[in-house]
Amino acid sequence: MIHLVLQEKLQQTVLALMPDADVSSVLVRPCPEPKFGDYQSNALMGLAKRNQLNPRELAAQVVDQLDVDDYCEPIKIAGPGFLNFRLKTEALSDALVGAAKGEHLFYRTATDPRTIVIDYSSPNVAKPMHVGHIRSTILGSTLAKAFRLLGHSVVTDNHIGDWGTQFGKLLVGWKEYLDRDALGRDALAEMERLYKLINSACELDEIVLIRARSELVKLQSGDIENLAIWNEMIELSRHQFDEIYGRLGVDFDETLGESFYNDRLKGVVDELVTQGIAEESDGAQVVFFNHHKSLKKHPAIVQKSDGAANYTTTDLATLEHRKKSWQPSEVIYVTDGRQQLHFQQLFELYNRWKPGHGMKLNHVWFGAILGEDGKPFKTRSGEIIRLSGLLNEAEQRAFDAVSEKNPNLPEEERRHIACVVGIGAIKYADLSGNRQSDYVFNWDTMLALVGNTAPYLLYAFTRIRSIFRKLGDESLTRPESFALAQAEELTLAKHLLRFGLVLELVIDECRPNYLCNYLYELAGHFASFYENCPVLQAEGDIRMQRLALCDLAGKVLNTGLETLGLETTERM
Ligand code: ARG
Repeated sequence: MIHLVLQEKLQQTVLALMPDADVSSVLVRPCPEPKFGDYQSNALMGLAKRNQLNPRELAAQVVDQLDVDDYCEPIKIAGPGFLNFRLKTEALSDALVGAAKGEHLFYRTATDPRTIVIDYSSPNVAKPMHVGHIRSTILGSTLAKAFRLLGHSVVTDNHIGDWGTQFGKLLVGWKEYLDRDALGRDALAEMERLYKLINSACELDEIVLIRARSELVKLQSGDIENLAIWNEMIELSRHQFDEIYGRLGVDFDETLGESFYNDRLKGVVDELVTQGIAEESDGAQVVFFNHHKSLKKHPAIVQKSDGAANYTTTDLATLEHRKKSWQPSEVIYVTDGRQQLHFQQLFELYNRWKPGHGMKLNHVWFGAILGEDGKPFKTRSGEIIRLSGLLNEAEQRAFDAVSEKNPNLPEEERRHIACVVGIGAIKYADLSGNRQSDYVFNWDTMLALVGNTAPYLLYAFTRIRSIFRKLGDESLTRPESFALAQAEELTLAKHLLRFGLVLELVIDECRPNYLCNYLYELAGHFASFYENCPVLQAEGDIRMQRLALCDLAGKVLNTGLETLGLETTERM
């Protein structure tokens, strides 16, 4: 991977000149302006500043010592000390030859693999999964795939909300008003109905509220009947979650819900109290962050005045369990941006409870999904949108579109395509934006055949596949070198070489949209290559090289789409 070679050589050169320098920030990135080069490093300016050197002089010294002649044209120093690298065609050709032989696909797996725990999806029992959970599910599973692709070891954990105060109300509802037929038809809808019913009854009538509390206490102290009902609710919910996961092609290594940590919570609170981290305030155990800039005004409760632990306590126990079970170097939580305060408190609290734990704690948050009107995405009557209905609609719309375009394909194939395109479109819409921005859910945009969409990329893939169908059983010969004489070939080749760099950026910042943009550009470069450079009509070495370029573009596109959790089809 040329960018890594350049980066390593650059770091070595800097170290030779400045043995004390921290070179971890000496990075090689794509050059934003292709006319200046292919890769760029801006690291020398910062280093020069920190060491009170003249940046251009430092740059000149580095360039003088840096031996990358095998890979690059002479390095250019630009502006106040940018280094611009332009790849030699021979170096590009070598990389392509290696890839065509199957030695690599333009990325390198980590030489020091890490263990990462990713907590995503995490819906709540007895409540339907909604569009907010889909974002967590899709982002989280993509991140897991990206880390794994680069050779890291990942533990995915679905921290379902299967314990908490909602069960008091649910138990009252279940005992008094359960409609078994309705439960059989749509369990989550029935449980939601029961919850809403008792929730509003509690608002009107204290007695119901008291009853709900006592059902909760009974559950928590191990009452057989309540535990059995609770178990049934979990089973029914899990069944529906699994159905959605199946359709999305998502799975988990672990599903340790909140209840798993129940008997550890008291121990956590005791330790926090003994260590002087938590203190009593109005009967509750509270942690104050008096010396913390942003948390000063936000103390965290770890035990309520009625003695019950809460979401924060459970998350502390969970984190401790993860550390002991898997010794991860990083724990990633994928949730909605509204939980930012919770995770800031959690991380700060854990750092105090277990100083020097050595894990990177990372809240990867995302914005809301909005309706056309810019308000949170709801049905016309103001209900939350169910995931299963949404997936059905995506498939139906994709089916109508394929049927219109390709009425002659057998229905079964059209159904399959509709599933790939429909589910892919929903996923891609979630992944392709900056995750921290809200995004407006729009069927026409996400299903459009042009633009940065799933259908566009899937279609680009089918075009590459169709080239190979035309080849019949003629086998691909592997080129010994690539001439890359035409501008479009060169651009495509350079773009292919960046795949690894993009994957690294995706896992460094937990931003799959970098990969989406990369693939979108790849499809564009491929289209202009294919338009301007005859492939099947070309002859001899050129034909062989161009076919190999098509093959590599198809492989990169396919691997990229797979990482995003998208399936592909041969036809569309
Ligand atoms: N169940 C929570 C919710 O739906 C998300 C849990 C996220 N993970 C965690 N460890 N707190 O909002």
